[in-house]
Amino acid sequence: MAHKIAVLAGDGIGPEVMESALAVLSRALGSESDQFQFEAALVGGAAIDATGSPLPAETLKLCEQSDAILFGSVGGPKWESLPHEKQPERGALLPLRKHFSLFANLRPVRLYPELAASSPLKAERIAAGVDMLIVRELTGGIYFGQPKGRSGDGADEKGFDTMVYHRFEVERITKLALEAAALRKQRITSIDKANVLTTMVLWREVVSQMVAEYNQSGASASIALDHMYVDNAAMQVILNPARFDVLLCGNMFGDIISDEASVLGGSLGMLASASLSSSGSFGLYEPSGGTAPDIAGKGIANPIAQILSAALMLRYSFERDDLARRIETAVGRAISAGARTGDIAQAGEQSISTKEMTESIIQNL
Ligand code: IPM
Ligand code: MN
Repeated sequence: MAHKIAVLAGDGIGPEVMESALAVLSRALGSESDQFQFEAALVGGAAIDATGSPLPAETLKLCEQSDAILFGSVGGPKWESLPHEKQPERGALLPLRKHFSLFANLRPVRLYPELAASSPLKAERIAAGVDMLIVRELTGGIYFGQPKGRSGDGADEKGFDTMVYHRFEVERITKLALEAAALRKQRITSIDKANVLTTMVLWREVVSQMVAEYNQSGASASIALDHMYVDNAAMQVILNPARFDVLLCGNMFGDIISDEASVLGGSLGMLASASLSSSGSFGLYEPSGGTAPDIAGKGIANPIAQILSAALMLRYSFERDDLARRIETAVGRAISAGARTGDIAQAGEQSISTKEMTESIIQNL
């Protein structure tokens, strides 16, 4: 039976970079293309314009009938004046994550050596390399905790969000971080704010317990764990990126640290992500950056984050590590060969279009 993929390109640069990812997928799949069925649907601002809703019922139905969602990005200035719940991010992306219980967001950050000059850090800070995996909890914490809302008026009017983590939520994301660390450099840095937030005291306790149990269970690799307050982590990520392997974070801290860490690799336009649940192989794959309204429609966006997200889809939803690696290798080769979109081009380097970057990656497959 063919694998079914819901393609939700969304807004801004979403459709442009999605086109690139689909072109790379089609070439990488080659004669196996007929085993993968892609079906597009509206989401975000594009869906609001066409149907009034950022996540129309047909789109959700398509996702439910699919084995994976390949997601672009949503949002933009055009929809910013809508009521908060109707905006693309709050009305489409967050509900999709929640609906499919996509509690684990994996964001691999690595620096291609040839892009070292595009990193905002001095050469000596990144000389030891950057290769970390951010494991971000995605369906809990302050993003979703209740109560959430606004009340009162005048000077007493207030807005409020609640940060909540249940033990089971911390356990399941820690389990995933342990599995990932075992296959990497066997090191987890858990990021919290246990000096101030009660939620994070629980977080720290649960993570410590889980890692200790894992290490006592006779697992083949023993995992080193350290805890770091998020403010310090924000500093350490740029002072000494090589010290990190797996960064285990709650929803809000993971959101912030992943944007920060992504530029170590040269650009947010390089940062792919996989959002997974515990039930089977279903996942949502999206670039970690946004819709980049400033460059949308110009054909100059970096398609690499979208392309690498498609590779993650092949790996995690379809168990095709072979194809995922082929795509990742092709991206590395294109970069080695000098292919640079504007975001990763240095002064004096020629920058190429989205289509040219895509072509270069395809040629290197
Ligand atoms: C991300 C984005 C989203 C988030 C926004 C668009 C809701 O910043 O995926 O990192 O905050 O999770
Ligand atoms: Mn973010």
